[in-house]
Amino acid sequence: MNYKMLKGFLSFISLIAAVASSTNIPRKAYVVYMGALPKVQSHGVLEEYHHSLLANAVGDEELARKSKIYSYGRSFNGFAAKLLPHEAQKLAKEKSVVSVFRSTIRKLHTTRSWDFLGLSAAASRRNAAAESDMIVGLLDSGIWMGSPSFKDDGYGEIPSKWKGHCVTGHNFTGCNRKVIGARFFNLQEIDATINQSPADEVGHGSHTSSTVAGATVDGASLYGIAGGTARGGVPAARIAMYKVCWNVGCTDADLLAGFDHAIADGVDIISVSIGGGLREFFEDPIAIGSFHAMAKGILTSCSAGNNGPGLTTVENTAPWIMTVAASTIDRDFSTVVKLGNNKKLSGISLNTFSTKKKMYPLISGGSAALPNHPNARWCDGGSLDKGKVEGKILYCLGSLDQEYTVSELGGAGVIANLMNNTEVLAVTPIPATHLSSQDSDIVEAYINATQKPKAVIMKTTTTKTEAPFLAYFSSRGPQFIARDILKPDVAAPGMNILAANTKLATIPTGKHSTFDIMSGTSMACPHVAAAAAYLKTFHPTWSPAAIKSALMTTATPLKIGESQDELGVGAGQINPTKAVNPGLIFDLSRTSYISFLCNKNHYAGTALAILAGDSSFNCSAVTPNTGSDGLNYPSMYVPVDLQATAVSAVFHRIVTHVGSGPSTYKAKVKSPMGLSVRVLPEALKFKRANETRSFKVMVKGAVAAEGNVLLKASLEWNDSKHNVRIPILAFRS
Ligand SMILES: *[C@@H]1O[C@H](CO)[C@@H](O)[C@H](O)[C@H]1NC(C)=O
Ligand SMILES: *[C@@H]1O[C@H](CO)[C@@H](O)[C@H](O)[C@H]1NC(C)=O
Ligand SMILES: *[C@@H]1O[C@H](CO)[C@@H](O)[C@H](O)[C@H]1NC(C)=O
Ligand SMILES: *[C@@H]1O[C@H](CO)[C@@H](O)[C@H](O)[C@H]1NC(C)=O
Ligand SMILES: *[C@@H]1O[C@H](CO)[C@@H](O)[C@H](O)[C@H]1NC(C)=O
Ligand SMILES: *[C@@H]1O[C@H](CO)[C@@H](O)[C@H](O)[C@H]1NC(C)=O
Repeated sequence: MNYKMLKGFLSFISLIAAVASSTNIPRKAYVVYMGALPKVQSHGVLEEYHHSLLANAVGDEELARKSKIYSYGRSFNGFAAKLLPHEAQKLAKEKSVVSVFRSTIRKLHTTRSWDFLGLSAAASRRNAAAESDMIVGLLDSGIWMGSPSFKDDGYGEIPSKWKGHCVTGHNFTGCNRKVIGARFFNLQEIDATINQSPADEVGHGSHTSSTVAGATVDGASLYGIAGGTARGGVPAARIAMYKVCWNVGCTDADLLAGFDHAIADGVDIISVSIGGGLREFFEDPIAIGSFHAMAKGILTSCSAGNNGPGLTTVENTAPWIMTVAASTIDRDFSTVVKLGNNKKLSGISLNTFSTKKKMYPLISGGSAALPNHPNARWCDGGSLDKGKVEGKILYCLGSLDQEYTVSELGGAGVIANLMNNTEVLAVTPIPATHLSSQDSDIVEAYINATQKPKAVIMKTTTTKTEAPFLAYFSSRGPQFIARDILKPDVAAPGMNILAANTKLATIPTGKHSTFDIMSGTSMACPHVAAAAAYLKTFHPTWSPAAIKSALMTTATPLKIGESQDELGVGAGQINPTKAVNPGLIFDLSRTSYISFLCNKNHYAGTALAILAGDSSFNCSAVTPNTGSDGLNYPSMYVPVDLQATAVSAVFHRIVTHVGSGPSTYKAKVKSPMGLSVRVLPEALKFKRANETRSFKVMVKGAVAAEGNVLLKASLEWNDSKHNVRIPILAFRS
């Protein structure tokens, strides 16, 4: 989520508060989730049934009709309705209902990146015919068809498996052979002023869509910054947009409608760069939707969230989801300021303006203060004297929004003290650069010691830097819904990504740019969706778990800055070309996940029966998955209790040989941080493809009596052609 959207979101929250206090008890939107589709019923019959349940709960036919919002029923069962709390409770007790939860508002998690991942346009082996049959579904803020990334020149017929639709609307005249589907959902009418349309008025959906499957566009840049060729990871693939996010956010009811359609429409992969807190899986629309997608063979890639670097901030943690952290790429941006004494200092920002004059007068915010405004040193809104600001570059202690304040007062530029180095680049409305505290002191000393201080801020240039690291904002584990699954799963580029923009939103310079630079796990998620689509062109029969496994076991471990970053990187940064030939995979079926949920006592027997879509289903009859975590997962995580002084866990795993011919894998353990790891057997022999072998991993370690303890190891299975790597982490929190 970018800053502009955050503001919209916050004003929406205060709007809700105002409405709630002026009415008695308002009806609120709820989702009534009812598991898998019943086998034989038509949508009409299902809708009738929803209606009768609702009428029974609200006690009145007429009222039931009025309060019903939507019936799901293309890919799973359930409905959305406006309810009072006691009506919601009544529905939750119904035998056919898995869960009832408030439909809350979620938020979006806001080009060189593909070359950096090794999936360059020319070098990578591609399966062109299969790629043009790939359909990637995105649940996002819509799409701007005017972008060159979505031109369909040279694209063949729409794949015959496609069952979806394209609706038209305000600023949206229709789809093409590149963007083959577009719909919008605004079921709760959260924003009365919206334009009914799949058009992207935010920029986020166009950005993510073009990252996955944008056509190749030469000479892409943001006013000359970050110039190069822009293209998606699978440029031949097709896009289906399900617009579920508006300026104020994305509702649970709309998200579920997006999934309901996308799964039924025949998409191959789903990409969701949206989050909003952690909830039990079956009270979370993204976990529910992605569960039913997985049951139909569709992998869902989700952003991990932007609430790092604190721990336990990761979102979208269901084990059937691919949870994606954001890593940095080897491109950096530098905005140089030159002082009157010719001293040059390099800061960060996206300054799209070329210098017009040689030098501008430079003053500190404090010297432009209105009477009695000590905050002027920070250049806070309302503290500065317009007459003193006009035409000058201001030096400010703060670096949040100062450019806007100074721009409105006619200032020529801003040099801001960054204070700490944890800022995401943003396009500035006037020339601006954000300096480290040390460099800021140099500017301050220069101003203090000079009669008529002067400065000029240069246009931003791109530079090279060391990578990949975890982006500081990327959310970290551990998680508490499925405690023993390591999340996030993988990392992908999410820092300063150049991709398509919409013409319906202006960037802060007030001008339109065909491309925009954004940061966030929102940008990382579509990279993994594209990598998954790329793998699927080579392995059309692989399950979502197999694709996930291939991407995880071939990932490149990230460089670790802070030790707790280990809890945010998962298996590392994806390497799509390597993942095509992973050697071994850890597979999982829908039944494995249901059995996992049974084991964990997450849900009562009847809820799982409904989830499984089989009324005779009973957890007691399911063979329990063995081992510490009970899931054949391609990573191993040991949650350590606060009182514990030792780590001890056993993991059981089954691998499938997906290479060709006979092969022998040898186990190799790396344990740099205090874990003892034993693997049994130490070698796995396969005679032919598709054979499976099981192995056991015993993890032990001593932990200090106090504090957050992090222990780390890895297991690699190597047959000299493949290296299958599995991270092992233990953490006490
Ligand atoms: C969007 O639609 C409005 C109203 O029809 C029109 O004035 C505007 O020019 C359109 N915007 C773009 C970027 O096409
Ligand atoms: C650094 O950033 C954090 C997070 O945004 C903020 O809470 C903190 O106040 C900042 N520190 C300084 C010195 O500005
Ligand atoms: C510059 O002058 C201001 C005001 O007198 C003072 O607070 C500040 O510490 C000085 N800065 C430097 C770097 O000398
Ligand atoms: C599930 O099976 C167990 C053991 O066979 C039985 O005791 C229990 O009643 C069954 N539960 C349901 C809901 O059928
Ligand atoms: C392995 O399984 C795949 C997919 O089911 C199949 O296409 C392939 O022929 C099998 N290979 C062997 C050697 O059995
Ligand atoms: C695994 O095998 C590959 C291919 O021979 C080799 O390049 C690699 O160094 C091996 N990895 C390890 C960790 O030994």
